Amino acid sequence: MKTFLQTLSSVEQWDVILVLIILFGFGLAESVAGFLYNSKRKKGDWIQEIVSFLFLSLGIKPLIVAAVYIVGSAVMPQASSLLSGFSFPAVFFFYILMDDFLQYWYHRTAHETPFLWKLHRAHHQAEEMGYFVSYRNAMLYYILMPNIWWVGFVVFAGGAKAVALGLVIKQFIIIGSHSRLKWDKPFYQHPLLTPIIKVLERIIITPSFHHAHHGTSILDNTSNPNGNYGNMFSLWDQLFGSAHFRQSYPQEYGLMHKTEDPWTAAYFYPFVTSPDAQSSLHKTHKVLDTKTKEALWVELTKGQDYLWCACGHSSKQPFCDGSHHGTKAVPVKFTAKRTAKVKLCNCKATQGSPFCDDSHLKL
Ligand code: FES
Repeated sequence: MKTFLQTLSSVEQWDVILVLIILFGFGLAESVAGFLYNSKRKKGDWIQEIVSFLFLSLGIKPLIVAAVYIVGSAVMPQASSLLSGFSFPAVFFFYILMDDFLQYWYHRTAHETPFLWKLHRAHHQAEEMGYFVSYRNAMLYYILMPNIWWVGFVVFAGGAKAVALGLVIKQFIIIGSHSRLKWDKPFYQHPLLTPIIKVLERIIITPSFHHAHHGTSILDNTSNPNGNYGNMFSLWDQLFGSAHFRQSYPQEYGLMHKTEDPWTAAYFYPFVTSPDAQSSLHKTHKVLDTKTKEALWVELTKGQDYLWCACGHSSKQPFCDGSHHGTKAVPVKFTAKRTAKVKLCNCKATQGSPFCDDSHLKL
């Protein structure tokens, strides 16, 4: 008698069917949970996410895989059987680990470089999480995504089945970690289950881990928008020092600097730009240099938390306004020890941030 897996693998396009079941399963569960009724989502959000999902699934991915296949067959035909001599588990783990490694670094680079940030920005404009949020990126972001090209290469080299299985597992983890369902929450609430999630979150990306990445700012002690970059496995964040395990969820999602970008600009940038002059997707947008040689005196209130701007681009100096996205700079959180007027650094060269240490005298 055929096993379930044998039956499944004999079905044409079984991986696509399973991914659709996962996507609509999470969508249905979110709807049943009532999330559609108290949603902040606007019409443009739905349009962008659905268009992006369709373009990615029916256009970008198949075209890249076909392009790699055609070029590979012409340029290095001998590589088409490169993986055929290896066992399925070996090909599968090689493919999936490399895929996740490439995506970690692409995602991290998108947060740290100005142009790629503009292609990824739409993903972080979402003010609530949801099963479709993982598809919010500019079209060019996906075209340049190295792991889609990697998929093309593995398929060409004879690893199509490993790719199909990897795709299903990956989508399950990614859609689950973006969903508002927070499937991991009960594990944190029940002491008997907590040890299980503490092990699991060190292997796969959980909603708590990824929601922190979408949180607006580190002021809530949970969000980590400049870290938690992983997609499937938290291994890379742990290895490269960007992991924060909080076991809670942000109070607020989205960007500090909010703009009104039509979905066409968010998806087709740089071919379509935003009419909002405050947006980094506007055609005249320039990164501000708001550093000053002199320090700034500001009134602080005892016990209040503040975010000091480390990048020198904020329009609210010496405090952060979110303009550091697209750079490697990270704002510095501090709590005022007393209510007083204090001299904060605004040359950004201080060794004792956020306070002025007269470093500007050496500039
Ligand atoms: S604006 Fe946030 S660190 Fe400068």
